[in-house]
Amino acid sequence: MSGSVRDGSLNTAALCTVREILGRRHGSFATPGLDLTALPYYDQNADRGPGPDAVCTARGVVSAADALIISTPSYNGAMSGVLKNALDWLSRPWGASALTGKPVAVLTASTGRTGGADAQPELLRVLERAGAFPVAHPKVAITAGEEMISAAGTFLRPSVVAALDGLVDATLTTLSRQPALSQAG
Ligand code: FNR
Repeated sequence: MSGSVRDGSLNTAALCTVREILGRRHGSFATPGLDLTALPYYDQNADRGPGPDAVCTARGVVSAADALIISTPSYNGAMSGVLKNALDWLSRPWGASALTGKPVAVLTASTGRTGGADAQPELLRVLERAGAFPVAHPKVAITAGEEMISAAGTFLRPSVVAALDGLVDATLTTLSRQPALSQAG
């Protein structure tokens, strides 16, 4: 899930790179993305029964996923509005939502000096509040410019690829431990 909907997005490029890494190393994974622009603004009146079609679709994709990987820009020290809107839809009904117990790895990318790291605490707090299961991994906050995005829409810089490799590893490790976690719980 990319928190940026703009063409040339660094966060979307980071997720394309994750997709490329997963395809190269673990060809069996399907890696659908969510179109956050398809979701209406959150409205609790509309969040009754199955809800709007686009919301049903998004909830279905997330429910079926083994894990989520979310990359967001920092906008004024917080996740983007489109991402927060999507997480609000996905977080309901509370306690039995598509996010409940879902492993989620997060990263940020920005042209800024800190790679958007200032948005991560809020994103993690929202995910925890929604009952998701944050994947433990070293913080990934990519400082980059659009000129670093290849024609294929991915990052090629070794340090960025290595950081994303680590995030993929941590996510897969979490998944491999999930049966043990649920038995323990
Ligand atoms: C930003 N940006 C930004 N960066 C950052 O590190 N801390 C911040 O607080 C902000 N605030 C902010 C507010 C607004 C309204 C905009 C438009 C931008 C920079 C932003 O994170 C950067 O442009 C990212 O590259 C945007 O992500 P995508 O679209 O490249 O994925």
